[in-house]
Amino acid sequence: MRFCMTLLTLFLITPTFAQQRLQTLKSPDSNLTLTFELTEQGEPRYQLSFGGKVVIKPSALGIKLKDAPHFERGFRIADTKTRKIDETWSPVLGEEKSIRNYCNELLIRLEQPAEKNRALLLRFRLFNDGLGFRYEFPNQPELKYFTVIDELTEFNLTGDHTAFWIPGDYDSNEHVYRTTRLSEVDAFEGKKSTEIGTRSLIAPNAVQTPLMLKTADGLYINLFEAALIDYPALNLVVNQTTFSLSAHLVPDAFGNKAYLQTPCKSAWRTIIVSQRAAGILESRITLNLNEPSKIKDVSWIKPMKYVGIWWEMHVGKSSWTYADVDNVKLRETDWKSLRPNGRHGATTKRTKAYIDFAAKHGFDGVLVEGWNIGWEDWFGKMKEEVFDFVTPYPDFNIEEVARYAKSKGVKMIMHHETSASVSNYERRMDEAFRLMKKYDYPAVKTGYVGNILPRGEHHDGQWMVNHYARVAEKAAEYGIMVNAHEPVRPTGLGRTYPNWIACEAARGNEFNAWSKGNPPEHETILPFTRLLGGGMDYTPGIFEIKLSFYDPNKAEQIHTTLAKQLALYVTLYSPLQMAADLPENYERYLDAFQFIKDVALDWDETKILEAEIGDYLTIARKTKGKEEWFIGGITDENARTSCITLDFLKPNVQYEATIYSDAPDAHWQQNPKAYQIKKETVGSTSTLNLQLAPGGGYAIHIKPSSK
Ligand code: NOJ
Ligand code: CA
Repeated sequence: MRFCMTLLTLFLITPTFAQQRLQTLKSPDSNLTLTFELTEQGEPRYQLSFGGKVVIKPSALGIKLKDAPHFERGFRIADTKTRKIDETWSPVLGEEKSIRNYCNELLIRLEQPAEKNRALLLRFRLFNDGLGFRYEFPNQPELKYFTVIDELTEFNLTGDHTAFWIPGDYDSNEHVYRTTRLSEVDAFEGKKSTEIGTRSLIAPNAVQTPLMLKTADGLYINLFEAALIDYPALNLVVNQTTFSLSAHLVPDAFGNKAYLQTPCKSAWRTIIVSQRAAGILESRITLNLNEPSKIKDVSWIKPMKYVGIWWEMHVGKSSWTYADVDNVKLRETDWKSLRPNGRHGATTKRTKAYIDFAAKHGFDGVLVEGWNIGWEDWFGKMKEEVFDFVTPYPDFNIEEVARYAKSKGVKMIMHHETSASVSNYERRMDEAFRLMKKYDYPAVKTGYVGNILPRGEHHDGQWMVNHYARVAEKAAEYGIMVNAHEPVRPTGLGRTYPNWIACEAARGNEFNAWSKGNPPEHETILPFTRLLGGGMDYTPGIFEIKLSFYDPNKAEQIHTTLAKQLALYVTLYSPLQMAADLPENYERYLDAFQFIKDVALDWDETKILEAEIGDYLTIARKTKGKEEWFIGGITDENARTSCITLDFLKPNVQYEATIYSDAPDAHWQQNPKAYQIKKETVGSTSTLNLQLAPGGGYAIHIKPSSK
């Protein structure tokens, strides 16, 4: 309020002077207002209001440089430009066939007279559903090469909002979400837990972006970034008394944040605002702030549904390793003479069985992990050379597998676990991709488990951010699609590199196999946070929910019902989806498996039917190019009734809905496999009432009734 008064007074008393220090911008619908101001000391400040209410109070902007004057104060506004952007574009693969990029832009050129007019540009884009802004550093005599030691961006919030957060961390995003007031954030609470291999927690009051917030009067706010290129990832440090959040960038081994050369720019900082939880999910700000595809011919980029030699290792049924030895050396060990342990998963025989299963049920691909030498001591050694990505174990005949897959019309997905020895991977990437091309593998799953080599770098630092992009670019040269595990979380770069079709970059289903797992609310939070940046390889579809199935001593389990596992194919968007359970488990539940076989991966339209972060979510999606819809509904640990209207269907058309839902006595813990399947005739005036069990869900396939 005081800020507004000051601005008003300035405007009335000294209009010319005020205009020099003050700029405003409205969203196209005028609901959002951005106010930019230079303080008396020439420090940049921005404020964001929604419908007259302040969302972000005056907050600092700026960059601190190493061995050079900071971009912090002493600025004057040298120039401003505004423009309107209104364009519609089509993602190669996506949640809808076209996306409108509609906003007002304000570009402010700031200059520091005391530094020979050294310039910093601030570009603001105000959409109807939020703000994006970034720093731009033009080429100029006073600035060519520079090192960023701090970003001064603040998000000065209006109160002690409820936050859906994971700890600030330089290396891992595989944390369980916590829901607390900002004043109650305690990011070190789980510090002793060892379930995440490599973590570098920042501070007890540091959290990661995307950060979801809800105000006392029900406003939803999301803080994130878009187009993270050649810059470190953004964490936030929470001032737990003033509720001001300040940027904390991931450093390198020297504590520096970014090494830049003009002309260059930061990633976009984004603030999505909505009165409805669904509004956050409907926002396309993140994608709109990314550059269009760098890849001209995208005809080879295809969605993929796959099975794989994967879950059987996570549940302990087979191993990635070929032999029970350790202390192997990539170049010196005689791999052929090792004695097989009899538990190796990636054998030619087992791979052929997966290929048969994929072919029989219409899957596009088969992933095989543990096919290549090096797994015997891949983890936690900080070794430079663990894998070469080209030498199969003696019992995996890559040529025969490739020939067999081709004969069955199935594509193979390569696995490159780098064990975080990234320098080694960079040296070998070309050779590895050439091998993939030779055997016609269209996609690679990469992995970054462990401490990063070059030593001292972090998963989310500038060097690694550049690495992930290099992999996407290099893979594109070979016509290969990428699914990265343990990378920095995506920031919409799938628009620029459409071959980067999915990422893990959050706590996936695998944690349910060997840790305390993902609580039932987990999947109701992911779409509001991690998924804003792009599709997730969550690996749903586990039917044998309890691991006692494999070993009576195992207490681990998936924290959902079976029906909810089906719903996740719709609620967790990804153009790459795995049917993660073992083929033999699916064979026993073929009626439920039918949904996984039918569900689409690429969409014309997406409708958020019901949403509350941390509680429940119902999404309907229309298959790309087909008059066919899929609906997924999920809940947290609480049972609920979902009531939906099918008014998105074409009027006067009769459809058949196949409804896969929790049985009346289902419960994620006590009775997770109890499901029922019903068929109903529906139309655009139908409403459905569906019961979701605690930790439950439902999935619906709707298609026009056959005449
Ligand atoms: C972690 C990945 O998320 C998982 O999918 C993979 O199986 C293991 N690393 C081994 O690479
Ligand atoms: Ca992982």
